[in-house]
Amino acid sequence: MTTPDDAIVVDNIHKSYGDLRAVNGLTFTVHPGEFFGILGPNGAGKTTALEIIEGLRKPDQGSVRLLGHNPFPRTVALLPRIGVQLQASAFFTKLTAREQLETFAALYGIETQRAHDMLDLVGLTDKAGTREDKLSGGQRQRLSIACALVHDPDIVFLDEPTAALDPQARRNLWDVLRAIQARGKTIVYTTHYLDEAEILCDRVAIMDKGEILALDTPAALVRGLDAPTRIILDKSTAPRDLPGADEVTEDDLSVTITTRAPALVLTALAERGALDGLQVRTATLEDVFLHLTGREYRA
Ligand SMILES: Nc1ncnc2c1ncn2[C@@H]1O[C@H](COP(=O)(O)OP(=O)(O)OP(=O)(O)O)[C@@H](O)[C@H]1O
Ligand SMILES: [Mg+2]
Repeated sequence: MTTPDDAIVVDNIHKSYGDLRAVNGLTFTVHPGEFFGILGPNGAGKTTALEIIEGLRKPDQGSVRLLGHNPFPRTVALLPRIGVQLQASAFFTKLTAREQLETFAALYGIETQRAHDMLDLVGLTDKAGTREDKLSGGQRQRLSIACALVHDPDIVFLDEPTAALDPQARRNLWDVLRAIQARGKTIVYTTHYLDEAEILCDRVAIMDKGEILALDTPAALVRGLDAPTRIILDKSTAPRDLPGADEVTEDDLSVTITTRAPALVLTALAERGALDGLQVRTATLEDVFLHLTGREYRA
């Protein structure tokens, strides 16, 4: 169901490159303030879909409403309200990180201080004077994210923003994105990291071969699998004959108990003092992907 207040309404969009159907009939809506993830392996059609929604590409078929406007061809009214970070980012040549942001700020009529704040936000203050072509891949990526945010847009599009980031920078960006969402902004992002999407996103669309295979909250997708819980114990401490265990397998080091009654198994383990080093694994979005496609997910 769509309402006039939806931030994004995508209706049956298609895009082919020659014979290749990159996007093959996508329909979904994104609500204001939502953190929406588009997930899927290489070549799934994520970037193509995003570029159509951003108004960078014209769909062969179907329509998009972005904040109530048709995004293609690009509308001046829309540009200040959307922020776009592309998978392959482009900068003004020969400018430093600070100058890139100051230039973007000037183009949008934003005060210079905001440019400096954005450098700080993405942790690039100490690289402010470095030319864009001398930044590392992850630093370039952070700069492009800062450029997408500098004019404080209502909707932010990020195409694999965490792909080249080290673990610390990735965590920092999560905090930045959560803070943006907390201010009521809408975020649409793509990622290969299903575990990350599970943490960040309100809803995710899982794409493969140009189509959406599933769209829901991560929790609902995982719950829908009705998958058993796995409890993993150190082999030396694992008791035998536990109530509630559906299957018990073991390798050299550990014993894995598969169960649909985890409370029963855990209670029995606690009673026998066997909780040390125990790991509990529930299903994840990777299991959802496997279930949907019959293939293991490979980022
Ligand atoms: N400009 C183009 N010309 C021809 N084919 C293209 C073009 N852009 C993308 N494709 C093809 O369309 C399909 C979808 O590509 P797209 O870039 O949308 O995938 P993606 O999900 O973003 O992948 P990745 O995770 O690798 O970024 C791929 O098979 C790709 O080879
Ligand atoms: Mg892509």
